[in-house]
Amino acid sequence: MTLRRIGRAWAALGIAWLALGSATATAIADAAPPPPAKATSGYTEKGADTCLNCHDDAALAGIFRTAHGRPTDPRSPFGHGQLQCEACHGPGDAHARTKGKNKPPVIRFGAKSGTPVARQNEQCLGCHRGTAPHWQGNAHAANDVSCADCHKSHSASDPVRAVATQVEVCSHCHSAQHADLLKPSRHPLLEGKMACTGCHAPHGSTSPAMLVKSTVTETCTGCHTEFRGPFVWEHAPVTDDCTICHQPHGSTQPALLKTRPPFLCQQCHQVQGHPAAAYTPDGLPGGGGPAGGAFLLAGGCVNCHSQVHGSNHPSGSKLMR
Ligand code: HEC
Ligand code: HEC
Ligand code: HEC
Ligand code: HEC
Ligand code: HEC
Ligand code: HEC
Ligand code: HEC
Ligand code: HEC
Ligand code: HEC
Ligand code: HEC
Repeated sequence: MTLRRIGRAWAALGIAWLALGSATATAIADAAPPPPAKATSGYTEKGADTCLNCHDDAALAGIFRTAHGRPTDPRSPFGHGQLQCEACHGPGDAHARTKGKNKPPVIRFGAKSGTPVARQNEQCLGCHRGTAPHWQGNAHAANDVSCADCHKSHSASDPVRAVATQVEVCSHCHSAQHADLLKPSRHPLLEGKMACTGCHAPHGSTSPAMLVKSTVTETCTGCHTEFRGPFVWEHAPVTDDCTICHQPHGSTQPALLKTRPPFLCQQCHQVQGHPAAAYTPDGLPGGGGPAGGAFLLAGGCVNCHSQVHGSNHPSGSKLMR
């Protein structure tokens, strides 16, 4: 019955009936509410067929090519016995029956909605609570960001979930991070090689700044495994937090550094106490002659202390090899 209805709706929209692939649901175990009791109140009898009588614009029909449009998945809004359009938009019988203006509204999503954000999100969380277990209280939920601010439910592909298009969605609100991405040293986000979600969990997580792992360092070394350690000779700030020296989103300094050596290093290391001050080459390897001087002036600290992230060399205690 449900199948026939949707079939008709599609035909009316002139859309070919696509072969739906392996729709047997596996990925999210949470989205399995019992089929709701429609009889209780306010829902249309014929579901999508009623809505599509009026809302037949092609842009809305993209939903039939998403996971939500799969009639073969009993958990999806268009699964057998489910509420179809009204699974998200709420009871729409009065809305559908009232002619002319001043229709009783259904739940609307996104920026123009008159429905409170928490109420909008509840429509989605009813099926997706397990997908977003850290949603409650995260920076997005706490600042009235809605699921629909990021997700497009009616388009066949959802820009926020594709690496190539995600940055644009996030940048819509996070202009400071987007500005950082235009700096000379940056992660390859604009090239489409990674996305914000390489480091962030937009539904929330247990770490600060909603990172994908529980600390900054674990997040970074998830990809930069060569700096994960443990090292025989560790460098304390590296073990502590990569962002002591690096700016994750972009920098005018090379290698995403916050400032250049020697200034970077001298925030913690006194010039006094070093075998010689960095800018006074006497007594250092290469001596005080032109060779030694040029070496120092050109290089700053990492020319000699090249293993700034840690060393496994038996005599690497000064992070030089
Ligand atoms: C008789 C025609 C008709 C039917 C049937 C109908 N709608 Fe509407 N709907 C409208 C009109 C016209 C609007 C424009 C807003 C208004 O005037 O209230 C609208 C507005 C909306 C909106 C908000 C968008 C906006 O522009 O404000 C949503 C969402 C919506 N309808 C969903 C549904 C759903 C879901 C159903 C089925 C349960 C449905 N409609 C059935 C005519 C209809
Ligand atoms: C999975 C939840 C979901 C289902 C199912 C769903 N919608 Fe929507 N609908 C949304 C969201 C979210 C938006 C906001 C725009 C977007 O995400 O694409 C929206 C937008 C709309 C709009 C435009 C309203 C506006 O604000 O401009 C209309 C009209 C509408 N939906 C009607 C329908 C109809 C008719 C159906 C059934 C064929 C349906 N929707 C099924 C979630 C859903
Ligand atoms: C009636 C239950 C139901 C409702 C309501 C619902 N969803 Fe879903 N959603 C599902 C199911 C089932 C899947 C498919 C999961 C799978 O394939 O493992 C899904 C998948 C998704 C996906 C992944 C799509 C994909 O292609 O894998 C997103 C994103 C999503 N839903 C967002 C939303 C948002 C946003 C809302 C509210 C506007 C919403 N859902 C409302 C049941 C629902
Ligand atoms: C700040 C943007 C943002 C918001 C707000 C957001 N999502 Fe997502 N969502 C994403 C991104 C990005 C992905 C893809 C995750 C990935 O690729 O690692 C995703 C993936 C999903 C998926 C697919 C399954 C999965 O975990 O990959 C579902 C379902 C989903 N979101 C539901 C929701 C629901 C429900 C809400 C509201 C409670 C919501 N999302 C709010 C950005 C967002
Ligand atoms: C509709 C606007 C909006 C969109 C779209 C959006 N965000 Fe946010 N985001 C916010 C707001 C508001 C806050 C809280 C205030 C702040 O820190 O700027 C926030 C906070 C954050 C934080 C800081 C979390 C914390 O605990 O300090 C991160 C990280 C973040 N967003 C990542 C993302 C990512 C990644 C995306 C895209 C997948 C995204 N946001 C899309 C509005 C948005
Ligand atoms: C390479 C990993 C990485 C990537 C990619 C990344 N971030 Fe971040 N982001 C971080 C880290 C680490 C922090 C926390 C440290 C800090 O304060 O900079 C952070 C902090 C944030 C904050 C909170 C800023 C504040 O001052 O509280 C926001 C918002 C944010 N990121 C948004 C984004 C957005 C949007 C994108 C994609 C355009 C993105 N991030 C990409 C690692 C990353
Ligand atoms: C999702 C994987 C991923 C994560 C997580 C990640 N990075 Fe990267 N990082 C990359 C890629 C890819 C490049 C570019 C490598 C290239 O171009 O050869 C890169 C490059 C860099 C560079 C060199 C940039 C330049 O201009 O030379 C630095 C420094 C860096 N990352 C630091 C970090 C820090 C700090 C973190 C944690 C906040 C982090 N990365 C998290 C993937 C990642
Ligand atoms: C004490 C400051 C400091 C800390 C902390 C630090 N780095 Fe670095 N990092 C540097 C310096 C300086 C360079 C530039 C090295 C050069 O020019 O040879 C660099 C370069 C890099 C590069 C690019 C060059 C390369 O060797 O591939 C990556 C990637 C990188 N760091 C990742 C990380 C990660 C991941 C962490 C945290 C585990 C981290 N860094 C912590 C100072 C630091
Ligand atoms: C946030 C502070 C901080 C920054 C920035 C920093 N370091 Fe360190 N560094 C330390 C600490 C703490 C130790 C461990 C000191 C100890 O064990 O006595 C250390 C140890 C060292 C050692 C080994 C010293 C020894 O006595 O074994 C060298 C060499 C070194 N750092 C070089 C650098 C260089 C080069 C930079 C800049 C790229 C730098 N450090 C940036 C805090 C910092
Ligand atoms: C020309 C090479 C060279 C340069 C450039 C250089 N160092 Fe060193 N540094 C050394 C040598 C050699 C030692 C080890 C002496 C020893 O083993 O007793 C050393 C030792 C250190 C130590 C350990 C001090 C101690 O008491 O044992 C620190 C910390 C350090 N350097 C930081 C820096 C910082 C910060 C800079 C940049 C401002 C820098 N170095 C530039 C060669 C250099």
